[in-house]
Amino acid sequence: MKTDIEKWLREEGKVFFEDIGIKKGQKIVDFGCGAGHYTIPAAKVVGKNGRVYALDKDTEALNQLTQKAESEGLDNIVPICNQSKELEINLEDESIDVMLLYDILHYMESEKRRRVYENACRILKAGAILSVYPKHRRSDEPLWNLADMELEDVIGEIERAKFHLERKFQKKLIHNGNYDVGYILNFRKR
Ligand SMILES: C[S@@+](CC[C@H](N)C(=O)[O-])C[C@H]1O[C@@H](n2cnc3c(N)ncnc32)[C@H](O)[C@@H]1O
Repeated sequence: MKTDIEKWLREEGKVFFEDIGIKKGQKIVDFGCGAGHYTIPAAKVVGKNGRVYALDKDTEALNQLTQKAESEGLDNIVPICNQSKELEINLEDESIDVMLLYDILHYMESEKRRRVYENACRILKAGAILSVYPKHRRSDEPLWNLADMELEDVIGEIERAKFHLERKFQKKLIHNGNYDVGYILNFRKR
């Protein structure tokens, strides 16, 4: 029997990201990509003419991602280690179609989150999507910097950073290797 992660990486993750709004040929940023459970399916959706920039400060996680990408025959993933300038995103202004912030906001206190939204705004094209999976809020396995925040608080701080909420929906997705049902927030750059 296939594990959740096998099912996700084989097919279901791809369907998920198509529904999120990722399209063939696009340029994506997966900020805090870890070992790539979101990067890999996103790379399958954008295909050989697209690209996924996978950022993490953890070199070991990026090595695992690179191995996984090779075993899947994917050559459209660009791993970026942002260890020294962890909140900077060294990509051109207005060059990205979709940025993912999946299961990462709880790592950063509010000023750091604000800087990440600012960077997102700089690199995203006009009308591009910022897609957020704000796991570990007060009502959802609370942890670290989101433990006192509800979904509406997260929405508020991102809207203040020049985005507007376009879709808020619950979806089944992989989290730490197992399926979970979580809120996904899709914002558009204003
Ligand atoms: C909970 S993991 C999620 C990983 C991935 N999205 C997944 O589920 O497969 C969060 C990741 O964010 C990374 N991270 C945390 N703060 C970061 C920062 N400031 N810059 C880059 N990566 C960061 C961590 O190293 C970790 O790999």
